Amino acid sequence: MEILRLAKASEFYNISTKNLTQILQTKLIPHIKKVSPSQRSSYYIATDFVEYTKSVLGVKNIENIEGSLEDFHNKNGTKIITISNLKGGVGKTSVASNFAYTLALLNKRVLLVDMDSQANTSRYFANRYFTGESIKNIFDTLMRKEKIDNAFVRQYIHTLDFENASLDLLPSELALGRVVEFSRAVFTMPHKKLSDILKHVKDDYDFIIIDTPPSTGLSLHMAIYASDMMSIVTDAEDFSVNGLKELASEIEEIEEETDRAIHVDSIFINKVKNSKIHEVYIEAIAKLAIEQNIKNVFTIADSTRIKEAQNLHLPMLEYKSELDKNLVMSSSIIEYALEKAIEG
Ligand SMILES: Nc1ncnc2c1ncn2[C@@H]1O[C@H](COP(=O)(O)OP(=O)(O)O)[C@@H](O)[C@H]1O
Ligand SMILES: [Mg+2]
Repeated sequence: MEILRLAKASEFYNISTKNLTQILQTKLIPHIKKVSPSQRSSYYIATDFVEYTKSVLGVKNIENIEGSLEDFHNKNGTKIITISNLKGGVGKTSVASNFAYTLALLNKRVLLVDMDSQANTSRYFANRYFTGESIKNIFDTLMRKEKIDNAFVRQYIHTLDFENASLDLLPSELALGRVVEFSRAVFTMPHKKLSDILKHVKDDYDFIIIDTPPSTGLSLHMAIYASDMMSIVTDAEDFSVNGLKELASEIEEIEEETDRAIHVDSIFINKVKNSKIHEVYIEAIAKLAIEQNIKNVFTIADSTRIKEAQNLHLPMLEYKSELDKNLVMSSSIIEYALEKAIEG
């Protein structure tokens, strides 16, 4: 993937900067626009994003790009993807949030669901607590055996507007874990309850991305039951490989319990450093992925930029004007988002 500024892009694609700017203004090509304090705009365009737009619209040249955002909606309906690992601190929340944002940047309608009562996903982007305004309140209502519908669920969905894209968030709060576990006593099929909630709003979205807690339990089972596929985030440390084996047997158990086949289609190995020991772990994880038929193995470098972006409550791709570095940093998330968006 190459990242080009407007002038370079107009040279590269052999089109005038004026025409290219007009095309960018249609928002059909995902790009980042930065406005300087003196109100001068600069555009960053990734070649992969241009190729993506051309493939969705079925056109050969950049000057033929025209159409509507409708064309970017999934042809095969809503896809629900759970991001998980039983281990904490590996980057589940960072990957789930940035993956959801990248899909939104690709003009997909995205709902990010936080099923972790630590509510890090909710706070990463929104920078506030959602006590009384979260998915926990929907579970409370279900447990009182009251009926819910689209309008009811939508009350708890919060739209997050960033400079270059918007996405929806169904946040969590601390009491969620307790309420979810308590629901075992109320429902005969508790693992179906998240799926029951999401089915009311599913049609409003191309993708629903679910972030999960770092432990086995009903929240994880609910998320997996609601999903079409799963993506695993891990670090490349001691125990990570064993942790992945434990997760695999946990998944088998859930498959039996919920009578549903679970498709894991990717592993992100996060916080990778340039070291011999990390090479060894990456190789072991890649081997495990092949054994388990997981087709994508991605790596993400260890970088303080992720923490810096989180401190400002911004997706990586909206952090600072050094977009080229952040694009490289998020390239595996972008690659996965492009794959899913095109499959759409
Ligand atoms: N690639 C990375 N490089 C450096 N720090 C990272 C990276 N990915 C995540 N982090 C940091 O690690 C911590 C845990 O990440 P988080 O996404 O919350 O993990 P989890 O959801 O698995 O608990 C956070 O402080 C986050 O900023
Ligand atoms: Mg987390």
